[in-house]
Amino acid sequence: MNNWLGLEGKVVIVTGGASGIGKHVVDTLVSVGAKAVAVDMNVETGDELDGAYCVKCNVTDVDSVQNMVDEVIKKYGRIDALVNNAGINLPRLLVDVVGEKPQYELNADSFDKMFAVNVKGVFLCAQACAKHMVKQGGGVILNMSSESGKEGSQGQSAYSATKGAVDSFTRSWAKELGKYHVRVLACAPGIMEATGLRTPAYNEALAYTRGCKPEELSTDYTKVIPLGRDGKLDEVGDLVAYLVSDRASYIAGTTINISGGKSRG
Ligand SMILES: NC(=O)c1ccc[n+]([C@@H]2O[C@H](COP(=O)([O-])OP(=O)(O)OC[C@H]3O[C@@H](n4cnc5c(N)ncnc54)[C@H](O)[C@@H]3O)[C@@H](O)[C@H]2O)c1
Repeated sequence: MNNWLGLEGKVVIVTGGASGIGKHVVDTLVSVGAKAVAVDMNVETGDELDGAYCVKCNVTDVDSVQNMVDEVIKKYGRIDALVNNAGINLPRLLVDVVGEKPQYELNADSFDKMFAVNVKGVFLCAQACAKHMVKQGGGVILNMSSESGKEGSQGQSAYSATKGAVDSFTRSWAKELGKYHVRVLACAPGIMEATGLRTPAYNEALAYTRGCKPEELSTDYTKVIPLGRDGKLDEVGDLVAYLVSDRASYIAGTTINISGGKSRG
C-alpha cells in the first residue's frame, strides 16, 4: 500500500530536516520512495542521511536559501514540494513580574531570532521554491505551524505570533498561487514527544514562564489532551506525507491541526 500516496520519485525539500519532526518527515518520505532533501544548518551538502540527500542552509539568509534551491535543482531538476519546517522556540514572558530572571523577559534580540527563523525563513524558502514550482507547472508548500499560533501560549507569545504569521502567509499564498497549481497549506502540531527543541535551556525557560521548576512541567497529558498522550513524531510524518501528496489535491489555504483533540485548529 506504500504507493497509495504516489510520492515515488517526488523531490521534497524539508527544512530543519536533521532533527525532531523534520527528521521524521524525511524518514517517512524516504520510506514511500520520495527523493527527500534534508535541509539544515547541521548537515553538510552532499552528505546522505538515512536515504535523504543533505543540503546545508541557514534559512534566515537569502543567499544561503538561493544556494540551497540551486543545489536541489542542479541535482534533481525540479522541486515537487517544500516542507517549511525549520523553527525555534525561546520561551519568554512579556513582563517578568516576579523579577528573578530578566533573561526570560521578551526582548528585541529573542524576538528577532524567532521571527528570523520562523517567519523570514519560511518566506525566503517559499519564495525561492515557488518560483520553480510556477515555472514547472505546480507544486506544494507545506508550512509547519503550531497549535499555539491559534490558541496562544503562556510564556510563548512571540513564538505563537510567528506561527500566527505562518498561518496567515499560508492563506495569502494559497490565494496567490492556486491558479498556478501550487497548493499552499500548513499543519499545526500540539504537544509532541520530545524533539531537539526541548533542550534543558528550553525547559528551564518554559518552567520559569509557567511559575514552576523544570521537573514540575506537566507530563500528565491525560488532563489536557483528550486522547490522553503526547503526539508521536511519526504521526506528523504521516500527516505531512499525505498533505504533500496528490491524495490531498483539494486541500489548500488552511492549517490542519494535529493535537489529539487538545485544540480546535
Ligand atoms: N516539537 C513540538 O512539540 C512542536 C509542536 C508544534 C510545532 N512545532 C514546530 O515543528 C518544527 C520543528 O520543530 P522540532 O520540535 O522538530 O525542533 P528541532 O529543534 O528538533 O528541529 C529543528 C531543526 O531546525 C534546524 N534549524 C533551526 N534554525 C535553522 C536555520 N536558521 N536554518 C536551517 N535550519 C535550522 C535545527 O538545526 C534543527 O535540526 C518547528 O517549526 C516547530 O515550531 C514543534
